[in-house]
Amino acid sequence: MTASCFITFEGIDGAGKSTHIHSTASWLRAQGRQLLLTREPGGTPLAEALRSLVLQQPMDALTESLLVFAARRDHLQQAIEPALARGEVVLCDRFTDATFAYQGSGRGFDHTVLATLEAWVQQGRQPDLTLWFDVAPAVAAQRRAAARAADRFEAEDLAFFDRVRAGYAARAAAQPQRFVRIDAAQAPADVAAQVQAALMAQGPWSAR
Ligand code: TYD
Repeated sequence: MTASCFITFEGIDGAGKSTHIHSTASWLRAQGRQLLLTREPGGTPLAEALRSLVLQQPMDALTESLLVFAARRDHLQQAIEPALARGEVVLCDRFTDATFAYQGSGRGFDHTVLATLEAWVQQGRQPDLTLWFDVAPAVAAQRRAAARAADRFEAEDLAFFDRVRAGYAARAAAQPQRFVRIDAAQAPADVAAQVQAALMAQGPWSAR
């Protein structure tokens, strides 16, 4: 089957999206689908180098935004667009909704500037489907504390993640046709069931 599809996984740090993107990739591969599993910032050598800078070096919100969009430009040109042209499914761990949520809502950076960068960099490309793993920031913080050392974003306080969560909610409300909210507070098996249901209903393999 050659129906390409661009699916993004979003949510605050600790929501569990990275676990579920990997199980989704296994599930799709088991069905014989060609896919690209990738992430942002990252996904190409240049974009991975920019990721290290963004996650570790102090910088202001405009610099952060320019770097994530620079990484995104390279990622789209070198990896995402070619994979879609080959008819593959692209699963991407974060994309531009993260920029609106983290730099826009979290850092308070100008959404109009972000929308301009989005238009320049993406030339109209948008995900076909976005799975938004939504969970309360306090729950996510507990999960992160158990799992790993914090990067620059993960070290932010609960108020920051409240704003990021509200940023995702606003994006989901503005573009309901591509967003599916996943209740990420549930047990992993229940979250996985929600993900599969969303993919069955809205993937290129659905009857819609
Ligand atoms: P994440 O994808 O959660 O990776 P890991 O699971 O390895 O921690 O981390 C990427 C971080 O980058 C995350 O804290 C959010 C941040 N980010 C932005 O601030 N803006 C963006 O546009 C993107 C794509 C990510």
